[in-house]
Amino acid sequence: MLVAGNWKMNTDVSEGRALADAIAEGLSSSPPDLGDVDVLVCPPYVHLPAVLDALAEVPVTVGAQDMHAEGEGAYTGDVSAPMLASIGCDAVILGHSERREYYDETDADVNAKAKQAQAHGLVPIVCVGETLEERQAGEADTVVQDQVDGALSGVSVDSGDALIVAYEPIWAIGTGESAAPAQAQEMHAVIRDDLTERYGANVADDIPLLYGGSMKPHNAYGLLSQPDIDGGLIGSASLAADSFLGIAEKAVEVQEESGS
Ligand code: 13P
Repeated sequence: MLVAGNWKMNTDVSEGRALADAIAEGLSSSPPDLGDVDVLVCPPYVHLPAVLDALAEVPVTVGAQDMHAEGEGAYTGDVSAPMLASIGCDAVILGHSERREYYDETDADVNAKAKQAQAHGLVPIVCVGETLEERQAGEADTVVQDQVDGALSGVSVDSGDALIVAYEPIWAIGTGESAAPAQAQEMHAVIRDDLTERYGANVADDIPLLYGGSMKPHNAYGLLSQPDIDGGLIGSASLAADSFLGIAEKAVEVQEESGS
């Protein structure tokens, strides 16, 4: 199980540092024994060194929210995979719907970035998800399958450690209206089938499939207890240590109940 926070473009560096300190404090003073639950935070680029430092002594890994598909070059304003790897990032979010919407990122862009991330030891967190219109038109499965196929074409994955996929229905992001657990599970099963066809069941079963979209402490248990939901990608609730760790505690509960 993986509980991941996407801070998006929120907090200045001192606020971000304070948030990371509060997460570290929450994990060291009254440690919810995390067991097999992994925790990851993805702050803005400029926060990364401070956040890595704040979390150095606790079992929380750090990722970025995007990166360029090239390793270096004349791309003013961009950040590369080698840069992220060089400061100790473990993962990178790719193809978030906000990147797709505001920067016209395509599945081909996500595909190139995923390969580049893996080449530098970063785990790509590939985001997929349909709009409300697409869902209402009965196209949600096809849209998501096309995104998965486009993003992962030629991406080799030998083990569940090499890839993370996040299903984030756009209508659930930032709206306070999460998908119903059964509705999310249904799409996760579609994605799992797709990954099984691509990588075989042994690998596909170990690839973490995260749900994202208004996950909060009060609805996390229902979502995380679905068989194909292996964690959450959390936006606004990751901006306060108590709600973020509250979700991590639900993940621990689910994990303990499932006996794994
Ligand atoms: P919210 O949790 O704020 O809905 O955001 C979800 C998200 O987009 C995470 O990447």
